[in-house]
Order: sequence, then structure tokens, then C-alpha cells
Amino acid sequence: MLSFDNAAVSIKDLTKTFGDHTVLKNLNFDIPRNKIVTILGFSGAGKSTLLKHILGLLQPTSGTISVLGKDLSHMDRMELREFRRHFGMLFQYAALFDSFTAIENVAFPLREFTKLTNKEILEKSAGLLDSVGIDPISHHKLPSELSGGMRKRVGLGRALALGPDIMLYDEPTTGLDPITTNMVNELIVSTSMQYADRGMTSIIISHDVKATLRISDYIAFLHQGMIEEYLPASEFHNSTNKLVQEFINL
Ligand SMILES: Nc1ncnc2c1ncn2[C@@H]1O[C@H](COP(=O)(O)OP(=O)(O)OP(=O)(O)O)[C@@H](O)[C@H]1O
Ligand SMILES: [Mg+2]
Repeated sequence: MLSFDNAAVSIKDLTKTFGDHTVLKNLNFDIPRNKIVTILGFSGAGKSTLLKHILGLLQPTSGTISVLGKDLSHMDRMELREFRRHFGMLFQYAALFDSFTAIENVAFPLREFTKLTNKEILEKSAGLLDSVGIDPISHHKLPSELSGGMRKRVGLGRALALGPDIMLYDEPTTGLDPITTNMVNELIVSTSMQYADRGMTSIIISHDVKATLRISDYIAFLHQGMIEEYLPASEFHNSTNKLVQEFINL
């Protein structure tokens, strides 16, 4: 199993049981800083449950999770809530506020969590929208007036607003057409590169084997609550693990 010094996320012996159903089984998993790491796995493998532990939204039954060098089990609810500002999240459906324009969507976390002036917030929001490729005219459009791909871009702009150390992408391309899928994948890579000097880590949960092999640095394969395989993306298709081969060849 790959392990990394000074990892962004370090998971030790994580077990999670709901009732009599053990969903995560003594999992050991390090996610290196400044890389793109994808977690692949069949439906029900435990991917979302793992992500919720990394966010501190679920508590382990046993084991520990450290994020950016901090042990989450030592934090209370308030500290966890505050700590979540280190994360940016892009969900399957961008989850924009329908009644807010693109720029107001991006401005929202800045209004909520910073003491910037209105002028500074609007400038920063416009800069974020530019950086994710939204043209100035569209800054003032409502989500309903934007294409699916543009909504994703706005969602990403909003996720990046507070300067996250870790970007989480949960099924970022599920349900998108092939062209928009490519665009979102390119956007994930360019965002990672753009924020490389800050050491931003990207974690992707996906079913899309082909695209993630191309854009990720490392791939983990989660199966029935265990990390079955964890390899540099370039080596993943050579995995001798039968389940991995089955998954790749679906
Ligand atoms: N709060 C919960 N209570 C009980 N069981 C749960 C809970 N959350 C998840 N599970 C169970 O844990 C297992 C893993 O679920 P999880 O959502 O993590 O899978 P997943 O890999 O994200 O699947 P998908 O690809 O379909 O999103 C499932 O069997 C699910 O029913
Ligand atoms: Mg899931």
C-alpha cells in the first residue's frame, strides 16, 4: 500500500459500522498533498461514507483520520465546522442557489465567512469566475440561463472562493454529455495546476475509469469497505487484482 509523509489525509485502521453492517473495514489510506487522487469502486463500496469521514461529518467506529496534520477525533463540532473551510466541494449537480446570479453564487461564501468589503467581494468573485472560464456577460446570469457545463464552472468557482486546501469532487461528470465531461475533467486538471503553488490536493470519487486514469496522479480502488488497490494512475491498468480488472473492463 502506498504511504506518504506529510499527507493531506492520513487514515489509520478506520472501521465504520452501521448497526451490524460494517461499511469500512480497517482501512489504511494516505492521500498525498498537491496531487489528484481518485477513489473508484462499485456502487455501495463505501466511497461516500469514506468522504464523509474525511469531512468529519461521520465519526469512525474505530481508527483515526488526520487531515492536514490534524486528528479529527480531537475536534468538537464547532472546531470541525470551522475546519471544513479547508475543503472545497463540487457535487454531481453543482447545487447553485437558483435565485442568485453566477457572481452572487461565488460571492456567497465570501459574504458568509470573510470580512471583505462588498467591492472586494465582487472583484474577487469576478476574478474567480474568469479563472474558471465564465465570460463577463454571464457573471450576471441566473443558473437557469447557463448551460450544464457553465453551472459546473460556477460551482467550481464558488468551491474555490475561500482558497481550499483540499478540493473534493463527488461524481463530477456523472450525467453529463461527453463534451461537457471532457471540459469538467480538463477543468479539474487546470484548477489543480493553477493552485499547485498553494499545495492544493484534489480528491475525486468517480465511476469514470477512462477519464480518471488520464487526469489523476493516483487511483485507489475501494471494494466492500477495503482499499483493494492503490497505485499511480499510470500503473493502474496493469493491476493484477481481479476485481480491478473486472471494474476497468466493465
Ligand atoms: N447512514 C447510514 N446508515 C446505514 N447504512 C449506511 C449509511 N450510509 C451508508 N450506508 C451503507 O453503507 C454502504 C456504502 O454506502 P456508500 O454510500 O458509502 O457507497 P458508495 O460507494 O458511495 O456508493 P455509490 O457509488 O452508489 O454512491 C451501503 O451499503 C449503504 O447502504
Ligand atoms: Mg456514493
